[in-house]
Amino acid sequence: MGRFRRLRGNDVIRSIVRETRLTKEDLIQPFFVLEGKNKKETIESMPGIYRFSMDQLLKELEQYQKLGGKAGIFFGIPSTKDSLGSGAYNESGIIPKAIKAIKKEFPQFLVITDVCLCGYTNHGHCGVVHNKTVDNDKTIPLLGKMALVHAQAGADIVAPSDMMDYRVKQIREDLDHGGYKNIPIMSYAVKYASSFYGPFRDAVNSSPQFGDRKTYQMDYANSREALKEAQQDVSEGADFIMVKPALAYLDIIALLRRELTQPIVAYSVSGEYSMIKAAAVKKWINEQDNVIESLTAIKRAGADIIISYYAKEVLKWI
Ligand code: PBG
Repeated sequence: MGRFRRLRGNDVIRSIVRETRLTKEDLIQPFFVLEGKNKKETIESMPGIYRFSMDQLLKELEQYQKLGGKAGIFFGIPSTKDSLGSGAYNESGIIPKAIKAIKKEFPQFLVITDVCLCGYTNHGHCGVVHNKTVDNDKTIPLLGKMALVHAQAGADIVAPSDMMDYRVKQIREDLDHGGYKNIPIMSYAVKYASSFYGPFRDAVNSSPQFGDRKTYQMDYANSREALKEAQQDVSEGADFIMVKPALAYLDIIALLRRELTQPIVAYSVSGEYSMIKAAAVKKWINEQDNVIESLTAIKRAGADIIISYYAKEVLKWI
């Protein structure tokens, strides 16, 4: 029994008993990179987020770092796609070029790269398609190659998001043999088949042309499977474990925080951004308060690091 309101009386007292605080170091901003010059394209379903050509990306990164941004995750939008996603593991592809340009200009900036074929395949699936199914074991060598090409270009961390089995093992082996023993793997270990990815698929034009991703991404009704996925990825060599989406999956974040010792990354995905943004544009919600509350809740649940399309804005607010 207690008078709990004693510790809520004013801002100062609330702030000294506050358990969870967002810091600039917690946040990672996603960036979409395009071929070409002088492009900054809007994305209809994600107001405030853009696709940048390299020159514009460097300007954006300069601003982002001035605000205190230290890390970004990069997604490539190739100008051509094919059935094997060959642009994904081409040494002169969009992401290797971007990494080199970023590292030349900003050697300290932490570059994380998404490793997945879906942005590069003409069918939009995350792997090689054979008889209308995504072939796990034909896909993982391509992912290994993609991760190695990113490391060779100067990526600091590779982040496989495809949900093929044994891809972390393959990537770890390929990085090690290629001389990149010290490049960490941030595994999207627990990635659900989610309607929250819709706006992202607009952004990179990666919607599957047939079927869906339910044969490789997880069923959102399941939590025990999350632990199995995460434990297996750790045993294969994952250094970070990611949960995605974030806000509807706080129980999963909390579960993994209790069971694992690895850093937990939460990806607050495109649909989470767009829902808040849409309500904010209509003035139905206070954007800043809602974003800070949502991200603080994700951290309170157990995330060490949060990938958020609001990262840049939040850097201005905290
Ligand atoms: C690629 C990938 C996706 C996202 C991150 N990496 C899309 C998907 O699986 O369809 C989603 C990110 C977001 O919605 O913000 N596999």
